[in-house]
Amino acid sequence: MRPIVPDYLAEALGDVESDTSGDPAGYIPELAAADPERLGAAFAMIDGEVYGAGDIDIEFTIQSISKPFIYALALSDRGFDPVLAKVGVEPSGEAFNEISLESDTGRPLNPMINAGAITVHSLAGAEDLNPTERVERVVHGLSAFAGRRLMMDEAVCASEMEHAHRNLAIAHMLRSHNVLTKDPRAIVDGYIRQCSVLVTTRDLAMMAATLANRGINPLSGEQVVPEPVVRQVLSVMFSCGMYDAAGDWATQVGIPAKSGVAGGLIGALPGQIGIATFSPRLDSHGNSVRGVSLFERFSSDMGLHVM
Ligand code: DON
Repeated sequence: MRPIVPDYLAEALGDVESDTSGDPAGYIPELAAADPERLGAAFAMIDGEVYGAGDIDIEFTIQSISKPFIYALALSDRGFDPVLAKVGVEPSGEAFNEISLESDTGRPLNPMINAGAITVHSLAGAEDLNPTERVERVVHGLSAFAGRRLMMDEAVCASEMEHAHRNLAIAHMLRSHNVLTKDPRAIVDGYIRQCSVLVTTRDLAMMAATLANRGINPLSGEQVVPEPVVRQVLSVMFSCGMYDAAGDWATQVGIPAKSGVAGGLIGALPGQIGIATFSPRLDSHGNSVRGVSLFERFSSDMGLHVM
């Protein structure tokens, strides 16, 4: 297997390389300046072996791919009931930055859209943590999923904070419904810091493999979150991870997944493999164009669809 998989990955990257459709995220100036030609793919097996091709050791910001992992931390730190009371599990069928709140309660429809993820950020760690301690809980947790200490890109973070009006509006709305109970500005600041954590494609594959391995990081052997939490997270990734493209993804790729606007994309197949791709040009849903093509190919070539 060892020599065959990298060849297969290199060939798959070669086949999507000529697709230059889409654009890097434009609403965060630092991301708009990213090199759009970057391309990488990695497979992390649940025994810890990693196979990769292309730019798998280039760092970029995790963005929305942090959402399922912080959902896992919140469920693990606070328990299911308090988290489910605040954030639902229904697909919104809307873009990631739509408001998407239940009309009577103000509860965000799911934790993968921004409204849900901002709320979930506020639920990571113990309730009495201050904003700095909560960010540290988040970075520490993401690092445990990756199996190495992750750092933050301060420039991307500052750049997004300057253009965070929509997330601030969502957070104020959540505060008005008492879904958020603390200062909305501090929570958005923490959420944007969470999105600015730097990862490589290799890290993302290992983080996905930790989910595939029922919460145990294949390298460190650490049980990062309990198994029932992983089942909940993967279920929500399956139904909501690709926003308003979630239905297309479920039929065509058929594995739990999550995308980020820096161009990362992960998929986790329980008991088998974590997959990650990186290519910054995005489609109209905010998902990586070449990443989606690569996942469609991997799913079809290797029969990964869960159905
Ligand atoms: O909330 C935001 O706007 C971003 N920092 C994260 C969004 C994101 O990655 C959406 N995913 N495709």
